[in-house]
Amino acid sequence: MTFDDVLRLAVIGAGGHGRVVLHTARSAGIDVVRLTDRRPERFPDGLDGCPVCSDEELLEEFSPREIRLALGVGSTGPIGSGHVRRAIVNRLMAAGYVFPPLIHAAAWVAESASLGQGVQIHAGAVVQPGSVIGDFSIINTGARVDHDCRLGSWVHAAPGATLSGDVEIREGTHVGTGASVIQGVRIGRECLIAAGAVVVNSVGDEETVAGVPARPLTRG
Ligand SMILES: CC(C)(COP(=O)(O)OP(=O)(O)OC[C@H]1O[C@@H](n2cnc3c(N)ncnc32)[C@H](O)[C@@H]1OP(=O)(O)O)[C@@H](O)C(=O)NCCC(=O)NCCS
Repeated sequence: MTFDDVLRLAVIGAGGHGRVVLHTARSAGIDVVRLTDRRPERFPDGLDGCPVCSDEELLEEFSPREIRLALGVGSTGPIGSGHVRRAIVNRLMAAGYVFPPLIHAAAWVAESASLGQGVQIHAGAVVQPGSVIGDFSIINTGARVDHDCRLGSWVHAAPGATLSGDVEIREGTHVGTGASVIQGVRIGRECLIAAGAVVVNSVGDEETVAGVPARPLTRG
């Protein structure tokens, strides 16, 4: 499945992130036919011109052959918050639905970068040569992934985050809004890098770090 094969898409989740995903897809010329929500009655007129239905209604109306899906449920950071997103995707993939990578028309992704399934590259983001972005990772608005970075699956580079060259980030880690990571740093799985942090040393699995330079977060 390549990005160019996607003609019709539905976005799972009609919250703030779902709306961003809707517009990323539209910018790339993709016809978004539905957003879904647990309470679609909240959107009697749809959202941004797109009809909103429940997941069940969507699956009844469109078979896996007729539609591709994008995950519109975002993540704000707290460790473990990714479980909901993973559960949604696992259920829909088990039913045969496919999540292609999505790239905003105003993002830039080097030809030699590699994107897994369900990856989202939003407006103003940059992914430089040789970088590998694992399945379902999000490179959010204006985030930058420089050359030869290796991101596992379910990583979130929040708006404005900057990863310098040759950074490795393992599965499920959240790099907060405006955080920066210097070149060559290794960050473990399921970490939380606080908004605005500057990471200059490697970070172990499941750690939360904050500040400049980033250190384990202490609560006063
Ligand atoms: C790190 C973070 C998760 C902490 O959230 P929290 O657990 O709710 O913590 P609190 O807000 O209760 O703050 C706890 C302490 O950490 C400090 N703190 C919180 N965020 C911080 C940050 N980004 N940098 C430095 N210190 C921070 C607080 O000032 C507080 O210090 P105190 O105990 O001395 O008063 C959160 O502030 C953060 O940065 N989240 C990332 C948000 C993000 O990237 N959003 C993107 C959405 S697309």
